[in-house]
Amino acid sequence: HDRPRHVGWIVDTPAELDRLTGRLTDAGHTVEDGTPQEARLRGATRLRRFTDPVGYRVELAVGETKARSAVARPDGTQPGATGLGHFVLASPRLEELRELYENVLEFRLTDYRAPGLYFLRCNPTHHSIALAHADTASLHHLEFEHGSIDDVGRSYDRAKANGAPISISLGRHMNDKALSFYVRNPSGFHLEIGCGGIEVGEDWVPHDFGVSDVWGHHHAEANPFASPAS
Ligand SMILES: [Fe+2]
Repeated sequence: HDRPRHVGWIVDTPAELDRLTGRLTDAGHTVEDGTPQEARLRGATRLRRFTDPVGYRVELAVGETKARSAVARPDGTQPGATGLGHFVLASPRLEELRELYENVLEFRLTDYRAPGLYFLRCNPTHHSIALAHADTASLHHLEFEHGSIDDVGRSYDRAKANGAPISISLGRHMNDKALSFYVRNPSGFHLEIGCGGIEVGEDWVPHDFGVSDVWGHHHAEANPFASPAS
């Protein structure tokens, strides 16, 4: 099947991996060890996995992957210092996924647009995952975080020059203030190329952020998450 199958999260320490395994088991999830081959493939020293309510395999890994992800840049910027970027899972099982991510895996709610779109974080990055309500399950988009607006602009030029379908135009999101555009990839979901997403601190208060964009982000097709307020 030409679609995403696995979701992976890096856990800081083996003790934290064991603690989260216990929380998952207590919540009724079956957690298994990954095979040595899978661990090697992901650059992980320890790897565990379980299945989420939608059917995605979710992996929790400890290892060198995190250290290897940094790329030296001539302008000194450090994209992805707190992770790859983010992704959005759309599904009819929104409440079960919120239960898993917020109450079992201890992600924090950053903000939302009630009743169907919730942004969650596991580090200072505004969100690493968003959960959306939809009639069928899909990975709506995956975001790659760049270090500067020029990197995003150069990606935009390459997308245009190579005829990649721009599915959502350049724009700035209201909630995390990221500047980005989206292309539809051959597997049917969107890739978001962005920069400038904010980080939030312990004093952050979750809230409904009202409208989706400061400017731009015009959809080539209907926005499945549009609300009457937008
Ligand atoms: Fe996004």
